[in-house]
Amino acid sequence: MSQGLFASWPDVWLFDGARTPFVDYTGALALVSPTDLGIKAAREAIRRAGIEPAAIGTVIAGSVAQASFDAYMLPRHIGLYAGLPQEVPAHLVQRVCGTGIEALMQGADAITHRGIAAALCVGAESMSRNPIAAYTHRNGFRLGQVEFRDFLWEALLDPAPGRTMGETAEALAERFGISREEVDRFAAQSFARAIAASDFRAGEIVPVVSEVFARDGLADRGIRLPRSTAEISADTHVRPSPLAVLEKLPPAFGGVQTGGNSSAIVDGAAAAVIGRRDTAAHPPLARLVAGVAIGCAPGIMGIGPVSAIETLLVRAGLTLDAIDRVEINEAFGAQVLACARALDLDEARLNVNGGAIAIGHPLAATGLRLTLTLARELRRSGRRFGIASACIGGGQGIALLVENTEA
Ligand SMILES: CC(C)(COP(=O)(O)OP(=O)(O)OC[C@H]1O[C@@H](n2cnc3c(N)ncnc32)[C@H](O)[C@@H]1OP(=O)(O)O)[C@@H](O)C(=O)NCCC(=O)NCCS
Repeated sequence: MSQGLFASWPDVWLFDGARTPFVDYTGALALVSPTDLGIKAAREAIRRAGIEPAAIGTVIAGSVAQASFDAYMLPRHIGLYAGLPQEVPAHLVQRVCGTGIEALMQGADAITHRGIAAALCVGAESMSRNPIAAYTHRNGFRLGQVEFRDFLWEALLDPAPGRTMGETAEALAERFGISREEVDRFAAQSFARAIAASDFRAGEIVPVVSEVFARDGLADRGIRLPRSTAEISADTHVRPSPLAVLEKLPPAFGGVQTGGNSSAIVDGAAAAVIGRRDTAAHPPLARLVAGVAIGCAPGIMGIGPVSAIETLLVRAGLTLDAIDRVEINEAFGAQVLACARALDLDEARLNVNGGAIAIGHPLAATGLRLTLTLARELRRSGRRFGIASACIGGGQGIALLVENTEA
């Protein structure tokens, strides 16, 4: 039977990273290309890592939506406009909500097996710019038979099990006997923790302003914010959300999930520089120890982190007791609660600075945010081991073991 796709790395370190603020769907980042969001995060990650761009051997970038007409070139443009030599290759990864962690795992593999010293890993997502698309109109269409559909809406349905992502969470709520009140309580806690961690979150954010990204010999590109917005420096979805407010919101999928206890739809990018320890310009944030991706039943895709984390622990020779902090992406409140129950994981170690219900879930950027947040949280709390994990539409889980070697 498959044990998933596992890898461990003897000498791969998270030097540093950064992300843009995560901004609500159709908000002030709605017109900005994911490539430009990625360039912004990448430039800052390289600056914080303090290494020469020429020391980076590859660019691994993810973006799930094809959200700009130059989407084919997204990883390449991020590398070029982040200042990397033009010889440094770049490629795109896509493991849906696991994309950011997948980028880090592929970077770690390349450092371990392909002779490079460091990798630039980026996840950039414009949920707002998901296209209104048609696949069948190149040769015209018959009168009244226009296909154009909202890609974002359609993409959240997995036709294989015949369930939307929200319905897969409802299936878990039923299976685990999770009530609306429990999901709302968890969501209220996510918001409260995110608010309490405002200063901590600010430490990983690079403010976004209107600016031009220039590179000799290539066309200028850049970010243009709405005229009324000079700078965006904070996540916009985080707001006081007590249980009394959340419990009044209507169900979004006919059960326990609502707009208040599901991951917020936001735009944003996150980036990290990882590499061999001898390449680091200053002490790295954390070590990337091992990772795994593994499949699960598509109709309950949200349970993916359970087998991913269990497999990772077995293969790494650890038990959950040794893991001080766990980040499980909050795609849906019921889905994280189901994972926590199945793993017997207490909430004191889980998403201690809030999660995607409060902060938002820009698909490809999420795994990088989770890992960066985790590494910084291990440093802050002086703890040793953490796991970043996400469920994945289509039925997969992904998990990454991170070690604070200073602890
Ligand atoms: C659940 C979901 C469908 C809700 O979408 P939506 O209805 O557009 O969400 P909104 O943000 O408009 O929220 C719905 C309502 O709840 C309110 N609300 C949401 N969060 C709130 C909060 N924290 N406090 C108070 N009210 C809140 C909104 O103001 C809105 O109220 P209104 O209808 O009076 O304007 C959407 O968020 C979703 O699909 N999330 C998951 C995305 C996903 O699947 N990602 C991939 C995972 S695999």
